[in-house]
Amino acid sequence: MFDESQFDVCLKLWALRIPRELCKVATRALNGYLLDKARIKPITEDSTCERNRLMILSEKVKRSDLSDIPEQVLDEMKKLCEIEVVPYSLTLGYSYWGADHLLKQILPPGVEVPTSFETIGHIAHLNIHDELLPYKDVIAKVIFDKNYPRIQTVVNKVGTITNEFRVPKFEVLAGKSDMVTEVKQYGATFKLDYSLVYWNSRLEHEHIRLVSNFQPGETICDMFAGIGPFAIPAAQKGCMVYANDLNPDSVKYLKINGQLNKVDDLVHTFNLDARKFISQMMSLPESKTSLESDVLTEECEINSEPSKQEAESDTTPVRNDNASIGDGLKGLCADAVAAVPAAKRPLDISKEGANAEDCSVLVSSKRKGNGNKRIRATELSYSKTWEHVDHVVMNLPASALTFLGLSLSLSLM
Ligand SMILES: C[S@@+](CC[C@H](N)C(=O)[O-])C[C@H]1O[C@@H](n2cnc3c(N)ncnc32)[C@H](O)[C@@H]1O
Repeated sequence: MFDESQFDVCLKLWALRIPRELCKVATRALNGYLLDKARIKPITEDSTCERNRLMILSEKVKRSDLSDIPEQVLDEMKKLCEIEVVPYSLTLGYSYWGADHLLKQILPPGVEVPTSFETIGHIAHLNIHDELLPYKDVIAKVIFDKNYPRIQTVVNKVGTITNEFRVPKFEVLAGKSDMVTEVKQYGATFKLDYSLVYWNSRLEHEHIRLVSNFQPGETICDMFAGIGPFAIPAAQKGCMVYANDLNPDSVKYLKINGQLNKVDDLVHTFNLDARKFISQMMSLPESKTSLESDVLTEECEINSEPSKQEAESDTTPVRNDNASIGDGLKGLCADAVAAVPAAKRPLDISKEGANAEDCSVLVSSKRKGNGNKRIRATELSYSKTWEHVDHVVMNLPASALTFLGLSLSLSLM
């Protein structure tokens, strides 16, 4: 691809040969006159004698008589030992130079050198401008070489995102083609296949910001959950999360991430269109007919004994989230995030065992008496699940802005 020796810079320097035990004190005496280059030690082994070391002098020392070094520095050195000056050549090659330096040598003058990239686990994601596409392989090789082993795959985004799953097309330019990787954010681990699911590391702050609004025991409804950057930390905080995404691969990793982070009992996953998901979340008795076709026959366990927290929330007034609905929705646009507060009611359901995914109806019902009682989801569908949701998270593509009208009306209910 390119000859790495083209980057070699050979320095002709001078060095002092001194007994190794004097290196420390000689270093102090020669302060300012030793080689000062990043990642290169100015003291090196002497191949001719194990007991000696070579102290490499700076490039400003040009002559072997050391006349570029002040007398008093030399006097101090002479008091230590007999000084022997030897020539020393040093080659700074491909392995020495940073990506920025190398790419500046390779790319046409005046272009912006693309050394920054988004990191997703072992993957470096580049967005190479059209004018630099002829150099894409060279750029990728340099980025790969200079960041290996942390980076093991270099990809470039191809074209613009057109699919509803918001997954870009990537071209692997260097390294292994495996794009299954792991990302850590604020104590959670996220596994994902970057070629199949949406992920944006730059949203980390937004993920933290939103989740910090949630309280343990609250119920979160994440309409466009992706692989779970809101859902997993919310569950880690002790929230009950209903997380939905249309992309089956996202839901696959959402479930994996629930297990990986040991919160799968709190994250209920759904693979539905968000409209369908949300309309089922807000199922009301009068909508019985339209819902029936979607109701699964999965059994859900109702725990009729309210937990301490639930009992307390019974006496808690409906939560008044100061952020008004307008505030919550303000500024929502492509990849924007909003948490829409919903009315709070005690949550009485605990769902166990069976797969939560594809479960068309969420259930919440305050049942008195009977202790733990298994009933069918069809029966449960007539309760008002929506009223138990504390926050609705919508992290949606611009094309889904129509969802906002729906959510706004829900919040006002
Ligand atoms: C901008 S991404 C956000 C994902 C996640 N919240 C995150 O921060 O990584 C939007 C997500 O919405 C999903 N999506 C797109 N259209 C959808 C729809 N109609 N119903 C449900 N999910 C949808 C995509 O698959 C994608 O995972």
